[in-house]
Amino acid sequence: MPLDDLTAFHSGFAWGAATSAYQIEGAVAEDGRAPSIWDTFCKQPGTIAGGDTGDVACDHYRRWPDDVALMKALGLNAYRFSIAWPRVMPDGDSRVNPAGLAFYDQLVDALLEAGLAPHATLYHWDLPQALEDRGGWPARDTALRFAEYATVVADRLGDRVTNWATLNEPYCSAWLGHLQGVMAPGRTDLTAAVRASHHLLLAHGLGVEALRSTASGARVGIVNILTQSEPASDRPEDIAAARRDDGHNNRWWLDPIHGRGYPADMVEVYGTEPPIEAGDLQKIAAPLDWLGVNYYKRSVTVDDPQGPAPFARPVTPPGTPRTGMDWEVHPDRLEHLLVRVTEDYAPRSVLVTENGSAFPDRVAPDGSVHDVERIAFLESHLAACARAARRGVPLDGYFAWSLLDNFEWAYGYSQRFGIVHVDYETQTRTVKDSGHRYAEIIRAHGRTTQHAASVAFPAPREENLYSEERRIN
Ligand code: FCB
Repeated sequence: MPLDDLTAFHSGFAWGAATSAYQIEGAVAEDGRAPSIWDTFCKQPGTIAGGDTGDVACDHYRRWPDDVALMKALGLNAYRFSIAWPRVMPDGDSRVNPAGLAFYDQLVDALLEAGLAPHATLYHWDLPQALEDRGGWPARDTALRFAEYATVVADRLGDRVTNWATLNEPYCSAWLGHLQGVMAPGRTDLTAAVRASHHLLLAHGLGVEALRSTASGARVGIVNILTQSEPASDRPEDIAAARRDDGHNNRWWLDPIHGRGYPADMVEVYGTEPPIEAGDLQKIAAPLDWLGVNYYKRSVTVDDPQGPAPFARPVTPPGTPRTGMDWEVHPDRLEHLLVRVTEDYAPRSVLVTENGSAFPDRVAPDGSVHDVERIAFLESHLAACARAARRGVPLDGYFAWSLLDNFEWAYGYSQRFGIVHVDYETQTRTVKDSGHRYAEIIRAHGRTTQHAASVAFPAPREENLYSEERRIN
């Protein structure tokens, strides 16, 4: 569906791109950084496609000035990045590594200088290995250490960073990391996973407190990956499976942070209680300034009584276009999800903190990257956001995943999500056509809000319309 009206987005709308530390920084042993659980996980044979690691990634640790300049040239006004806990507190105890903090300090200054609002995420999965060795997320102490870490970072950056996320996708840390074992630390233990989920949410609650008490004016939120769960058939068993899938993906994370505690049906499904202590649920339910929604695809499941919790096996029905990840493309589900979250939980503000698609992009002989499918994905999902905003969702920003092609976790470098292509041999950045298109949309929105009138959205361009002068790379 063409996006023909940008007036659904207000004038202060955040137009951003997102990345995370381990996926782009590289320099894993530089300036006092200690290993994280991802460094360890990548070294285990068979965990990552191609045996890839984040050792070098996009070399952003050295090339950050160029990457900031690139974002400025694209006309973004916001950048969502994460801070690497093992750079800042390498041993997981109270020792602070000044060089680690200094890296983010200079990055934040450069972003502000370039007119980009920094949106900092404290935890995007890179737990210091030292903390894993002391029990990791299944241990309560990790949540307390997180609060300490949040205080240290906010103390250093809180005078300049307003927008803070505590966690990125605790779903992945708990379920993919401790139940399915496909992400670090690679465990397959339901009890450990449920314990991890509670301590992640407790860390979030304590983190909110720490950020607010250290950085006055902090706008604090959490980023969840959410989906629309749908049954593969109208069999009652599949309908019940979809309900469990919804609990596992969405309600387990959204209910507690909105003061409702853990959904009782899911406690029953897991057959184990989260290790809640007095006061935990109140801390977890600290009111938030915004809710981050990461959306990639819907989730279709069949009943699977023999499978792992939540006993709902994902299937991919035929007939829908898919991305390189084999993920179905369903922009209308993003609209529904945003409306549902607003109706069910009434967040003050919603940010789409990640949305994007992977395709096997290549640099053409003329030096450009014609990623027409990603352009279609971007436009259709922005159109879904516009419809959601018109239906009353308090939508304040959109962050494309990702600024750069990068280390895609268990998929290694085989999946390219960037609006900017990265040649991993030379570290050359090339803005893809989707990046140019995004820049054009942002400019069009600027004109729209400037004139306070409805301006028709420019029609999709044919390939090759970008002249060399206009290309930014
Ligand atoms: C999300 C992650 C992000 C990236 C995208 C594709 O779940 O937050 O780091 O890997 O998926």
